[in-house]
Amino acid sequence: MRKGFVRLLLLAACLLGLTACAPKQDAAETPRLLLGFSQLGSESSYRIGNTRDIEAQAEAYGISLMMKNANQKQENQIADIRSLIAYRVDVIAFSPIVEDGWDTVLIEAKRAGIPVVLVDRTINTKDESLYAGLIGSDFYREGVMAAEYLIRKADRLGREQINIVEIRGTENSTPMKQRQQGFMDTIAGDRRMHLLSSVDGDFLRSRGAECMRDLLKTYGRQIDAVFSHNDEMTIGALPEIEKAGMVPGKDILLISIDGGQDAIDILKEGKINCIVECTPKLGSILMETAVRLKNGEPVERVIHPEEQVFTDEDDLSHLAPRGY
Ligand code: AHR
Repeated sequence: MRKGFVRLLLLAACLLGLTACAPKQDAAETPRLLLGFSQLGSESSYRIGNTRDIEAQAEAYGISLMMKNANQKQENQIADIRSLIAYRVDVIAFSPIVEDGWDTVLIEAKRAGIPVVLVDRTINTKDESLYAGLIGSDFYREGVMAAEYLIRKADRLGREQINIVEIRGTENSTPMKQRQQGFMDTIAGDRRMHLLSSVDGDFLRSRGAECMRDLLKTYGRQIDAVFSHNDEMTIGALPEIEKAGMVPGKDILLISIDGGQDAIDILKEGKINCIVECTPKLGSILMETAVRLKNGEPVERVIHPEEQVFTDEDDLSHLAPRGY
């Protein structure tokens, strides 16, 4: 009887809206940071590794993630960013497929008060305030390192001329432009280096194969070296060299970029000569940056991850699994 009376009193207190009946607000119930990420596509093992890393790090940092995939189309990516603005996420991050054409949508994000972080690639804009910072590789340096390897290799082989073909990544994308620039600036200082042709492979395996087929048709055994802007295109090009009766890694030197597991395994077999690392593991830096932005703290304008070069000169037997 007494118990029933106490319960009744509690119920009455609750109905009167007394705070004692409100659920306890502990840390677990404070709203989680909501990060919207617009990925450009799934064209390569780099890209798939990058998406997975961002998902895993969001989980590890207790950040809610809205992940969008633009399937290699800028118009999809712009629509994805607009939907993240409409959803009012706390921070927007995106990997721009190309450098031009982002101002309008980024002005919309700025007006909505949502900070934007560029991941992997940069953009062309006259208004630098449209994004808070860039987290991505130093692509120019990657091109330089690829060329430096080729120059060292030419020295070691005692070659007087090296005829190069270049298979480029997506037109007007940052890695395509900067890798090409770094490579060309570096070989320019060496009279043995001679560029036969440069073609667009769009970072795709299928295009790498097509490009290599065409290049072999035109130049055949004149080709001494391939500079391919990513592993995917290199892996596509390789069987075409074999079909043409040449030995990749020996008759034609192959220089690639990314360092995914499949390419590293082929390097160990001796069919690729050099891979410059381009790490997709940018997730933890992105989460740290998103937290700082949400707290209104300043962030670094440009962050480049540490990267290395894997070559046929190295002992790679103890290299840890790449994870992409
Ligand atoms: O922007 C990084 C580049 O994009 C990677 O090298 C390539 O594999 C990817 O598609």
